[in-house]
Amino acid sequence: MSDVSWSRRHVLAADDWTKEEIELVLDTTQPMLEVLSRPIRRAPPLRGRTVILYFSEASTRTRVSFEIAAKTLSADVVSISASGSSVEKGESLLDTVRTLEALGGDIVVMRHASSGAPYFVAQRCNAAVINAGDGWHAHPTQGLLDAYTLRRALGSLDGRRIVIAGDVLHSRVARSDIETFVPLGARVTLSGPPTLMPPAWLRGGAPKGVELEPDLDRALDGADAVIALRLQRERQDAGLIPSLREYTRVWGLTEGRVARMRDGAPVLHPGPMNEGIEIEPAVAHGPRSLIESQVTNGVAVRMALLYLVATGEAASAGERAPSLEAVA
Ligand code: CP
Repeated sequence: MSDVSWSRRHVLAADDWTKEEIELVLDTTQPMLEVLSRPIRRAPPLRGRTVILYFSEASTRTRVSFEIAAKTLSADVVSISASGSSVEKGESLLDTVRTLEALGGDIVVMRHASSGAPYFVAQRCNAAVINAGDGWHAHPTQGLLDAYTLRRALGSLDGRRIVIAGDVLHSRVARSDIETFVPLGARVTLSGPPTLMPPAWLRGGAPKGVELEPDLDRALDGADAVIALRLQRERQDAGLIPSLREYTRVWGLTEGRVARMRDGAPVLHPGPMNEGIEIEPAVAHGPRSLIESQVTNGVAVRMALLYLVATGEAASAGERAPSLEAVA
């Protein structure tokens, strides 16, 4: 276990995290998986705390995994969405979150369509804020769970080459994966249509540790892992791809293509998948696929983050770190 201590109040993006901080989360995830394997999946660290899940954009994996994570750590959990809340009557984001805080929320987990929304809230509220995905900007808990899944499969990310394939332009997952993998020593190869790459990155401004290879076959040659991204069909009105059929022919992850990677190199996808578009069903459900493991690991990574945020608060108040002892 890393001897770095947790000092962050919020989890907004991993763009300024150190390798040691990332490793602390990944190391803390391991005992959380042990809690999840107990006959009674309960531990007490968040007893007496209230976690509010505020999702104003659709989600299955992130929302449910945060709910399971918080309940496993004995928190009280309240879940609201824009639909059915006073947001429908025009209440602002800030008033909504301040109301949730006044109702006793200690940690607000939020997903929002606008990039930067969690920062806006974090600067104005006392509750700790965890970003569960904001616009195209960041999805830090996905980056951490992908790093954890890859570390389990590969032993370490140091010196590994990870391909991220598809619609990078619209992908907060790709950005957070890069921010998490590169400090751990990985190189990232991005492969997708130039129209679906950030323009500045095409002009030589890609982040450190990242290279672009528009030919997917060449990108996959000898790679240690691939992450297929969801083609964000809801954002393709601008004619960024010639047709779905053409996209699948050139950018679809097929069995033939994944065979170009190292023996046994794993395949990941953050979900939800467009099976038959960016990934063939035989690959999505084949022997290299870690897609279901990502979902399971997502619960443990989110437990680790909730635990660290709560522990950090306790430590700064001079209390002993909450333990993971079993709840009778
Ligand atoms: N990977 C991901 O964020 O999935 P959801 O949109 O289902 O939460």
